[in-house]
Amino acid sequence: MEKSEFYKIIESRQSIRKYKPEVPPKALIEKLLSAAMHAPSGKNRQNWRFIVVTGKKRDEYLKYSQKSWQNIKDILQKRLKPSLYDFTERFFYTLGEAPVIIFCYSHNTADEKYLTSVGSVYMAVENLNLACQVEGLGCCTMGAPLEIKDEVNQFLGVTEWPEYKSGELELLCAVVLGYPDHTPPKAARQTEGRVTWME
Ligand SMILES: Cc1cc2nc3c(=O)[nH]c(=O)nc-3n(C[C@H](O)[C@H](O)[C@H](O)COP(=O)(O)O)c2cc1C
Repeated sequence: MEKSEFYKIIESRQSIRKYKPEVPPKALIEKLLSAAMHAPSGKNRQNWRFIVVTGKKRDEYLKYSQKSWQNIKDILQKRLKPSLYDFTERFFYTLGEAPVIIFCYSHNTADEKYLTSVGSVYMAVENLNLACQVEGLGCCTMGAPLEIKDEVNQFLGVTEWPEYKSGELELLCAVVLGYPDHTPPKAARQTEGRVTWME
C-alpha cells in the first residue's frame, strides 16, 4: 500500500449517521473485530470485550438509545444549530437504521484494575473505525450509551454472565455500523494550540 493511501484512509473516515438496510456479512464483521483486536493494549492484557448486536435485539435497543438522548439533548440544543440538532435527534431515535451495534467493554478483575484499560479498548475501537473505512462500511462511535450504563448492561445481560464477577465488565462505548447512506460534510479539525513541542 502507498503511504499516501494510509493517510487518505485516516483523513476520509467520518462518523456516519445514515445507513443502508443491507446487513454486512458476519465474516466481514469478524474481520473488523480481528483488526480491532490487533490494537496495542496496556501490558498486552487485551482487556477488550465486544458484544455484537443485530436483528431483533438491535431493534429492541432503540428504546434505550432514545432514553440516552433524553440525558444529552439539553447540552446539544445549546451547541448545535437547529437543523443539526433535529438530525441528531433522529439519529438517536433510529440509529440511522444501522444494522449492527458493537458494544465495547473493558474487563478488569478486582485485583487487576488498570488505568490503561480504557485506552486499550479505545485503541481497538479506532482500528475498528479504520477497518470499516477500508471495507466501504461506515460507523459512528457512541458514548451516549454510557448515560444509561446500568440499563444497557441489563439489556445485554452482562450482569448475569457467569464468567465475570459483578463490576468486572465496564461499558466504554458502542459502535454502530453498516453501509453508508449519506456523505456528511467533513467535521473541521483544529490543530491550533493542540500540540506543544519541547526540547
Ligand atoms: C468517545 C466518543 C464518543 C462519541 N459519542 C457520540 C455519540 O454519542 N453520538 C454521536 O452521534 N456521535 C458520537 N461520537 C462521534 C463524534 O461526534 C465525531 O467523531 C466528531 O463529531 C468528529 O466527527 P467525525 O467522526 O465525522 O470526524 C463520539 C465519538 C467519540 C470518539
